[in-house]
Amino acid sequence: MINRVAFSFLAALLISSAVAADLTNAQRDAIVERIKPVGESCVEGDSTCAAAPATVVSAEPRTGEEVYNAACMACHSTGAAGAPKYGDAVAWSGRIAKGMPALYATGVGGVPGTGMIAKGGCMSCSDDDVYAAVDYMVAGSQ
Ligand code: HEC
Repeated sequence: MINRVAFSFLAALLISSAVAADLTNAQRDAIVERIKPVGESCVEGDSTCAAAPATVVSAEPRTGEEVYNAACMACHSTGAAGAPKYGDAVAWSGRIAKGMPALYATGVGGVPGTGMIAKGGCMSCSDDDVYAAVDYMVAGSQ
């Protein structure tokens, strides 16, 4: 990340100096300003994101219920593709018996060969978001 930021900054400097002869200061500033967001964009979970909250996908930790509603409900409320339904104690009991660490692991990593893909397909979910959603589903299904 640092490298990308540094690279973008250098690129901005290079571009602005390369065209400096033909541009006013105001135009140069406008170019630097336009280029800047590239260097400031960040990946979720990256500690450098703290300085650029506007581009962070998920700045606030979400509750398990919020994550579930946004990312898990589509399958886990209907049982689509054989997903254990929220609230179905029978469907969940055998899974809960494996222990929470196992369920956190399958929540994040998915269950190979099934509809349960990594993070249920929620690429904007942090691992903690998924753990919270697993907690929410387990708490509501026993
Ligand atoms: C596209 C459908 C789909 C979505 C979306 C989805 N799941 Fe699943 N999930 C499944 C299916 C299917 C299974 C059953 C897999 C199997 O056969 O063991 C499953 C199983 C699970 C299990 C139990 C795995 C085990 O080890 O027994 C957990 C935990 C889980 N999902 C968590 C989540 C969480 C958390 C989300 C949202 C972030 C989510 N799922 C979103 C389809 C989905």
